[in-house]
Amino acid sequence: MGRLDRAAGPAKVAALLAHDQPGLFAAIGELDWYSGSHRHWIDDLALRDGDRVLEVGCATGALTAHMANSGYRVTGLDRSDDMIARARSDHPSLDLLVGDATALPYDDNAFDAVVAASVVNIVPDAQVVLTEMHRVCTPGGTVSVLVPAVGFTGKDLDALIETRGLTGFSRAALTKWHKGPPKMTRPQLETLFRSVGLEPAVTRSYLDGMLVAATATA
Ligand SMILES: C[S@@+](CC[C@H](N)C(=O)[O-])C[C@H]1O[C@@H](n2cnc3c(N)ncnc32)[C@H](O)[C@@H]1O
Repeated sequence: MGRLDRAAGPAKVAALLAHDQPGLFAAIGELDWYSGSHRHWIDDLALRDGDRVLEVGCATGALTAHMANSGYRVTGLDRSDDMIARARSDHPSLDLLVGDATALPYDDNAFDAVVAASVVNIVPDAQVVLTEMHRVCTPGGTVSVLVPAVGFTGKDLDALIETRGLTGFSRAALTKWHKGPPKMTRPQLETLFRSVGLEPAVTRSYLDGMLVAATATA
């Protein structure tokens, strides 16, 4: 790979981050390491065909679309008009809504599963968001969150890039993501769940330990 190719990845990530965040999420949603880890998390939840699923913070809807294709009745919600506009354009048949995770516009027990990727680690009020996710999930349903994990180091990142043979935009996006958002530990996730009355039954790692998920029965 030449010098220009190496520069193109980080430059594209920086430009999208600065000027077109929906474009950035739409682009990373197509990368194997990103979509694969998110799909793996959802598939591990073993939801039932026809389950009503709410994805909180769905951004441009790539995972929402995967869940719809898996046979669930899915709604994607995000507070960003721009994200939802792009999601509607990319996935016209999906049920998508602009809304605030701290005050979900749904009745109690409205969904069989409520999921959120990379949301509770970035919001200032994670407890309120998780309380709302719990409220709209039916008793016996599934509440699950996925976040970047503390403990995934720069060396781990290098190994991931190497084993997956990542280059260009894909490599730059992964590197930026590793450096960017706040991360959480498993105990932090478990404490957060218990603070809203959810007993986290399962915590699992994805993407060679870069991500951690906690799941509870509502
Ligand atoms: C880091 S992105 C993650 C997007 C997607 N879930 C993913 O994993 O690729 C966080 C998303 O949550 C949305 N968000 C942040 N705070 C929110 C809130 N209070 N209510 C609804 N959405 C929110 C943002 O607009 C953004 O699309």
